[in-house]
Amino acid sequence: MISQESIQQILSRIDIVEIVGSFIKLKKRGANYLGLCPFHNEKSPSFTVSPSKEIYKCFGCGRSGNSIGFLMEAEKYSYVEALRWLAAKYNVEIEESETSPEYKQQQQVADSLYIINNFAQKYFTEALLNSEEGQDIALSYLKERGFREDIIKKFQLGYNGEGRDGFTKAALAAQYSLEYLQKTGLVNVREGNAYDNYRGRIIFPIHNQSGKVLGFGARIIKKNDKAPKYINSPENEIYVKSKILYGSYFARQAIDKADECLLVEGYTDVVSLHQAGVENVVASGGTSLTPDQLRLIKKYTSNLTIIYDGDSAGIKAALRGLDLALEESLNVKLVLIPDGEDPDSYVNKVGAAEFIKFVNENKKDFILFQLGIALNDAGSDSTKKSIVVNQIAETISKINKTEDFTKQQDYIKQCSEILKIEESGLHALVNKFIREKIGKEETRLNREQRFEDESITNVQSSDVENDVTALFNKDEIHEQAMIRSLLEFGLKNWAPPGEHSVEETKVAEYIFKEIEENQLEELIDNKELVRILQTYKAWFNAGIEPTAKNFLYNEDQQMSALVVSIMDFNHEISPKWKEHFEGHIATREDLFAEEVFSTLNYLKLRKIKRLMDENQRDLEKSTVAEDQMILVQTHQHLKQMEIELTKHLGTVIFR
Ligand code: CTP
Ligand code: MN
Repeated sequence: MISQESIQQILSRIDIVEIVGSFIKLKKRGANYLGLCPFHNEKSPSFTVSPSKEIYKCFGCGRSGNSIGFLMEAEKYSYVEALRWLAAKYNVEIEESETSPEYKQQQQVADSLYIINNFAQKYFTEALLNSEEGQDIALSYLKERGFREDIIKKFQLGYNGEGRDGFTKAALAAQYSLEYLQKTGLVNVREGNAYDNYRGRIIFPIHNQSGKVLGFGARIIKKNDKAPKYINSPENEIYVKSKILYGSYFARQAIDKADECLLVEGYTDVVSLHQAGVENVVASGGTSLTPDQLRLIKKYTSNLTIIYDGDSAGIKAALRGLDLALEESLNVKLVLIPDGEDPDSYVNKVGAAEFIKFVNENKKDFILFQLGIALNDAGSDSTKKSIVVNQIAETISKINKTEDFTKQQDYIKQCSEILKIEESGLHALVNKFIREKIGKEETRLNREQRFEDESITNVQSSDVENDVTALFNKDEIHEQAMIRSLLEFGLKNWAPPGEHSVEETKVAEYIFKEIEENQLEELIDNKELVRILQTYKAWFNAGIEPTAKNFLYNEDQQMSALVVSIMDFNHEISPKWKEHFEGHIATREDLFAEEVFSTLNYLKLRKIKRLMDENQRDLEKSTVAEDQMILVQTHQHLKQMEIELTKHLGTVIFR
């Protein structure tokens, strides 16, 4: 558990525009910000962020939430993970209360490793740029290869000298623990002696999404058959290879802009392409893409272009696991660089413009390419060939999105031509895989359904939102309006509309009093709203001054989702407009007393309507004259109250 104090500290620093803005491009539009929704495909932006309300809402797909909800949705974080992300972003040190010791331990290790990596990166960069050996051996090598100094600095490249333990000594002198230094892979110990792991190597720091150094790739400078060309960080608490794409920190915005992600093999490819102005590029390190890496790409774009050298052993590796890309609806293309070049050497040889042209003109379809390779491998072996047919049918079956239907048909046609088999035969085979998949899916859904039945209380926030919209009947709007005015104006001093406040009564107190005196609480049909009301009251009575924010960032996601959905987006008035009319238009803010008054009146009216209905029914049933008299009187009395209340109904702005 993160301590309440830390949570408060984190929440006080949250800037939703900055947070959302680190995932998608936002443009200022009036008081709000507008961008393309990251949660559904759209061409024109309907994703709105309100900095003053600290919430986002997409008017296209209806998703909405606060900063934490955004991180949970976009990064698939848990509530606590989202808080940790924010804490890291805003440099808030997290105090833990009652965490499991193992978790705490792991967290501390991770923090220590980041700190060591940060120290190491600075040490290596310093050594590259400012030491004699670094300049003579490493910087000159990089420059000879054509790397500019601004790019070297941007990627924080470094160098570790050939000496046995220069870095180790510096790190130990700076009080870093030997155990953790070994964990980072920066230091080795043999026969009781600690020494540098990366000697005489160029260092490529590998950054996470927020720019912190997760680990390193270290390239040898002097050719040496005994030593590996690259040494990479070992797996540890922060370096998890399957989740890392080198360069993603520097590429994310460019990927977003280009709506395409280029994937290359190596560190040098990424750096060189950046230097040439091609910035939407990441590297996999030559291994096959993992589900986590694909998901990372998918967050920014649906278009993946793999650029490898034509004779690379890495191609097959890269193509492995790409069926998963199809399921994620990624469009995968492949570009092979000719003549034994790799993207780095090729862009250096032909220049940026020619490189881009080549890539654009040589995009191959990855399914057809994969088929070509497999067929080639199978040769004339008919058993192997039938395996190829099966594999390609399965691959095609994964393109199962309705929008991609024609794409699937095209593939069946083209592949059957290449394979020289009947189109209808391949068709049948693809359908078989689709049926099998649906079968599996159903079993899974059934299982999930059963699980949900068992834990109905465990509702996801998006479900809550759907339910909330479904409940948008007129009555509910009035209930929501009342709660909204409580959340927004509860802490203001109360005065009836048009009057000045005389006593120090808060709006919240007035609302509580009215609700109690008129027994309005049981009238609120949405019990979630009642829960907000009660929570507000409990906080208020305990001396906490609740604002919408308290609810917004509540760990109770159901409550938070509801608060977001009732928060008002539309009444926001742009500063320009305000300027133009010099404050002549009344905002909800100005009319808050009116609004509080009216929303309560609506609820009272509703109560009267219900009482009148009940009375009416009794009247219809009644046969005793005396009873009828009383019922009629009651009716008249209620009618009178209704008239009074209607008179006082002000102008409430409902959305
Ligand atoms: N790689 C690795 N370990 C190795 C060799 C390669 O991790 N022993 C990974 C690195 O990420 C490397 C990529 O595979 O960047 C591609 O390898 P290679 O083409 O050999 O290196 P380049 O990046 O092209 O480096 P250079 O241009 O300096 O030869
Ligand atoms: Mn290379």
